[in-house]
Amino acid sequence: MGMAQKTYYITTPIYYVNDKPHLGHAYTSVACDVLARFMRLDGRRVKFLTGTDEHGQKVEKSAANAGMPPQQFTDEVSEHFRHMASVLGLSNDDFIRTTEPRHIKAAQALWQRLDAAGDIYLGGYAGWYSVRDEAFYQESELVNGKAPTGAEVEWVEEPSYFFKLSAYQEKLLKFYDENPGAILPESRRNEVISFVKGGLRDLSISRTTFTWGIPVPGDEKHIMYVWLDALTNYLTAAGFPDTDSPDYNSFWPADLHMVGKDILRFHAVYWPAFLMSANLPLPRRVFAHGWWTIEGEKMSKSLGNVVAPDHLVEKYGLDQTRYFLLREVPFGQDGNFSRQAMAERINSDLANNIGNLAQRTLSMIAKHCGGRVPTPLHRPQDNELLEKAQVTRPTSLDDAREQMLRCKFHEVLQAILAMSSAANEFIDREAPWTQKKTDPAAMEATLHTLAEVIRCIGIMLQPFVPDSADKLLNQLAVGKDARSFEHLKPEHALQPGTELPRPEGIFPRITLEAA
Ligand code: MSP
Repeated sequence: MGMAQKTYYITTPIYYVNDKPHLGHAYTSVACDVLARFMRLDGRRVKFLTGTDEHGQKVEKSAANAGMPPQQFTDEVSEHFRHMASVLGLSNDDFIRTTEPRHIKAAQALWQRLDAAGDIYLGGYAGWYSVRDEAFYQESELVNGKAPTGAEVEWVEEPSYFFKLSAYQEKLLKFYDENPGAILPESRRNEVISFVKGGLRDLSISRTTFTWGIPVPGDEKHIMYVWLDALTNYLTAAGFPDTDSPDYNSFWPADLHMVGKDILRFHAVYWPAFLMSANLPLPRRVFAHGWWTIEGEKMSKSLGNVVAPDHLVEKYGLDQTRYFLLREVPFGQDGNFSRQAMAERINSDLANNIGNLAQRTLSMIAKHCGGRVPTPLHRPQDNELLEKAQVTRPTSLDDAREQMLRCKFHEVLQAILAMSSAANEFIDREAPWTQKKTDPAAMEATLHTLAEVIRCIGIMLQPFVPDSADKLLNQLAVGKDARSFEHLKPEHALQPGTELPRPEGIFPRITLEAA
């Protein structure tokens, strides 16, 4: 039996085009990119999807405010998100727009499946709606006349199709129970379960008071509720409704929908219910991450503190930004962005720890080993350090993989930093600058071990800081085809005598004044 290559399908939320990209969007996207790159290096065939959510009242209003027809408006604003993807170095395999024909076709096909299952009926909606959240609210949910999120609500009364969400309460609870890893983190999973236990009402899934959306098949006075339309994007990009297509067969169900905590309910309640109704497999995992504040304050246009991804990358560097976002806060929790925290993180971890290790090791090799990979001796102290670093013990790479599957980015980074700290201690203990005079062979052995640790660190860092890891591995003359996790194994160790390029600094320090 041939072993099919393992696949991994990961998605970002699709971003509303009413707004320009900001730190929050960048966060979700970078986290997904790191996972996508990790899985590729781990030998999987990956599909990484991002894109834009272009229908609905919110976008229609923004277009009207901009004095543009919605299609033209979305064409323009969607480009900002493509631009963000390139600024952040995202390795996405597809970029979906919900205004594309492939998506309109998929959303209508999904509607027809829900209808064929007997889960759609025509009725009338009378209740509150928040355009900002694109969500319906019960009177009892309102807080001081506003949505629980603080958004304005308006009264809506119109004919509407409904989805029989109430019929899925028990099935959803059974699904959560049987798949404890389907919603993470656990605290969020518990929130979802208690929400569903509290009872589900049928969901309004069409609108008639505006037109910017996908027509309901067979009743074109209605357009589809934007969340039903939007969630379907994950299927569209996997080739749906062609369930025989190779893409669908390789990639559906998705392995991970990454979302912010504010949109978990749509992904962990509505989406699985729609898929159950359509008799399609459910995504394996939804992870809800936390929110960032800026220097202690909520990010908002009115406060004028919205952080643009371009700005961060220009000021601190791409890899520095990516690193900070995933290292500073345990993924899942809320975090605070401050210039000081950014500067401290960059200096302590990247410049002083990893950067310093590389600088010290590579400049000694350049000066004292003729710019060639030195000769190892395999002393007990070398083996001890390498065993830590090489992630060869089956547990270490398995641990990192398990942590990544559960989005524990900060733990993986901590493990990489611990390797670097151990190597820095090793260099101090062995003191190759003294060995140079007393025992040159020992100096060579020390430097070989250090270079080998740096090679492993470089390989492991690739998903997080791809450009810097590339430079680091270039400095060790590691071939582009020798950088997957498979190559962490000692049989791929640096070959003595290999000529190395001139070393140069990779992680510069920054001063707080410049931050
Ligand atoms: N269009 C919907 C998603 C549809 S997915 C089928 C949407 N778009 S959004 O543009 O408003 O938000 C996209 C993501 O950005 C969400 O996951 C949200 O949590 C995230 N963030 C927005 N502000 C944020 C912070 N301040 N901090 C972290 N993430 C934040 O919702």
